[in-house]
Parts: sequence; C-alpha cells; structure tokens
Amino acid sequence: MIICVIGSGGREHAICKMISLSPKVSKLYCIPGNAGTQQLAENINLNIDNFEKILKFLKDSKVDLVIIGPEKPLVNGIVDYLENNNIKVFGPKKISSQLEGSKTFTKNICKKYNIPTANFGIFEKKENTLNFLKNSKFPIVIKADGLAAGKGVYISKNFSEATEAVNEIFDGKFGKAEKILVEEFLNGEEMSFFIICDGKNFKLFKTAQDHKRVNEGDEGKNTGGMGAYSPSGLINKNLENKIIEKIILPTLKAIEEMGEKYKGFLYAGLMILDNEPFLIEYNVRMGDPECQTILPLLKTDLIDIFNACCDQNLENLNIKWREEKSLCIVLCSKGYPENFINNVKIDNLNNLELSSNDFIFHAGTKEEKNEILSNGGRVLNFVSLSSSFKVSRKRAIKLINQLNWKNGFFRKDIGFRIIDK
Ligand code: AMP
Ligand code: GLY
Repeated sequence: MIICVIGSGGREHAICKMISLSPKVSKLYCIPGNAGTQQLAENINLNIDNFEKILKFLKDSKVDLVIIGPEKPLVNGIVDYLENNNIKVFGPKKISSQLEGSKTFTKNICKKYNIPTANFGIFEKKENTLNFLKNSKFPIVIKADGLAAGKGVYISKNFSEATEAVNEIFDGKFGKAEKILVEEFLNGEEMSFFIICDGKNFKLFKTAQDHKRVNEGDEGKNTGGMGAYSPSGLINKNLENKIIEKIILPTLKAIEEMGEKYKGFLYAGLMILDNEPFLIEYNVRMGDPECQTILPLLKTDLIDIFNACCDQNLENLNIKWREEKSLCIVLCSKGYPENFINNVKIDNLNNLELSSNDFIFHAGTKEEKNEILSNGGRVLNFVSLSSSFKVSRKRAIKLINQLNWKNGFFRKDIGFRIIDK
C-alpha cells in the first residue's frame, strides 16, 4: 500500500515509525513532515491547510490511505473533502471534530446527555464575564472557545488574574474570540483516555498521563505537553467501565443523533476525583506526546488497525499490546512556551546509543544541508520502554544528557506522581 501521513510533530513521526514496520507498506509519504519523518518517509512540502493541493498530490501519487495527525485540518473538514473526492482517509469528519474545535459544542453535549464535567458558564461579552467572576469562588478556569494548541486555558487564583485572562482572550490572543468559557476548577488527577472508533464499534487504545505545565511539579504555564507516560496509574476496570458508560457511549450517541458516525481516534482528557471520571475536553486525534509513548507498545500492525477502522471492521480485530512501562520526555527550545529561537543546530543525534526499547521522535526539527536544525518549541521526544517507569525515565534522561543540546531544556520529573510517591 502507498500511505501518506499528514502532520509534522512527534506524534506524526511516531505514526510514521509504526507504519514503516508494516510489511504491507510499499511507500510512505509525510506532508510536510520533519527531519525525523524524512528518515522513514518521503517528506512533501505542502501547506496542510491547502486541501486542493493535497488532493492533487494524493491522486498523482496513487496514495491508498491517508492518516491525518493534527486537529486543525480535521476541524477544517479535510476528511469530508478527501472522502468526497474518493480518497480513503483515517480521521473524523468536520461535524465530529467540533468535539475538539469548539469547547461550547462539547459542553452542550455534556449538558444534554448528562456527561460528568465541570460546572460551567458560556459568555459572549467581557462585562458579563467579569460581573460573573466578581461573585465566583477561586481558583476558577477560564478558556478561549476555539483551538489554541493547549494554551488557551487559564487557571486563575483570584479576580485580578481572572480579569487579565478575560482581557487577553477577548483581545484576541488566541484568535477572534466570540465566546469564553468559565468553569469550576476540578482538583483531581488527569488522565488521557483513548479509543479508536470505526463508526459502528470501538476498541480501547491505551491510557496515558501527560504533563502539560512547563515547570517541574506541574507548575507554570500550560504547554502542548512536556512529557507523558503510559499506562496511566489511575486506570482500573471499574473506572474504565465508568468512563465508557458515562462519557464515551453518550458522546458517540450524540454524534450519531446528529446524523454522523464517529471514525478515528477519540481522546478524552479526564479529571479523576475519587475514582470518578469528569470530562475536561475532547480531542479528535491522538495526543502529543501521549502518542509517542503509546504507539511503541503496539504489537498489532498499525496499518491493520487503520484499515479495519476505515473498512468498519474493528469488531474483528484484536489489538495487542506490550506490557512495558513507556515514558516520554520532551526536549524543548529554551523560552518555550513563550519566545524561543529556531534554527539552532542539533548535532550529536547520530552518536546516541539507542537500544531496541529507546526511541527518539522528532517534533520541531528540519534538515538543511545535511544538518538538523530546531524548528519549534517542542523539538525532540525521548521515549523509553522498560519494566518500570523509573528505569524508563532514567534511560530517557541519560539520552538527553548524552545529546547535550545547548538550546534545550526539559522536565526531569516526568512521571513523578507514579515514580516518586
Ligand atoms: P484543556 O485545553 O481544556 O485540556 O485544558 C488544559 C489543561 O488545563 C488541562 O489539561 C488541565 O490541566 C487544566 N484544566 C482544564 N480545565 C480544568 C478544570 N475544570 N479544572 C482543573 N483543571 C483544568
Ligand atoms: N498532550 C495534549 C494534547 O495532545 O492535546
């Protein structure tokens, strides 16, 4: 089969890696890709917002299956567009993708189908929001409505922090803001819960825990994700059943009642309080960096999974997993998630001694004149699998120290809740 992956992060490098292991694949493309995907696939430098050019490339290159990695093209309807042009594509359509594209869309589903979530209010005017906040309990959570790469969420400790958040959102820091969400702060532990759904049936993917805050101890600004581990320490059969019954099934039903069928990965960002799940947000794709920790645990051919999903045949597929503990540390550019510089050379990558249980996935990198340069805030993902999270973390840190990239920083405490308790 000829396969094309769309995206350019660590998630897409991990997807390319697992696809490249499949004997069914004769050719792999990645649009636009990074310096890591380039070693496994042919990178094609197209803008992922330009659906027409992508379609032309896919037709000209006789691509059999396309996998969409990131949320933006999904939310903008790339799956509808490609399917209408007879391309086989893995990912949810535009209506379903609003689960990620619009927080108010998801909150309204929660209300209608009784899905446990934080209490919330939706506001359209700055003055009304501030009036409401004057009489609220703190901390409180304030969110921009659209896509904001994990950064449009504020946890405000008092009225003055909340005012700043409201001003920033309405002043357009995350794009034009028509709505703002104010929500109760849930003081629990987070878990990323993944399923894959073919429109008729779904299978569980593994769970993970992600560290979104930039500083150790989960302090500081929100980022796209500084590291993750899989499986989550919180999951148990009883909790899993509650998540499926109270959150996943009603959501799939809601989508079905809109005349649509959910196809693709669905990622529920949950807060767990006393073994009870609350939905914080949905994403309509794999998590990044969760994907980089989960995919190396797969025993089943990823292409078989994507095909079964597109052919509505997941029911007959048994997805098998390795038992190891997988942990990922993200090496970032100094200054991220605020200002940082690009085009800093990364040498030494070829000198690292990787075992078969170590993986380096590229995120913000590019290759120019045989040199690898940084090209983003999150630059490289170091993933290790072993029989314990502690050993996996040690391995990942050792590799990062061996790389010794001067413009980089990373959190040494990824997995602290499960390792250091
Ligand atoms: P979101 O983009 O909605 O996933 O929010 C980003 C992060 O903010 C989450 O991963 C949580 O760490 C935190 N967060 C969001 N909503 C809440 C909430 N209601 N209570 C506590 N923390 C939250
Ligand atoms: N790791 C969080 C996300 O992918 O949204």
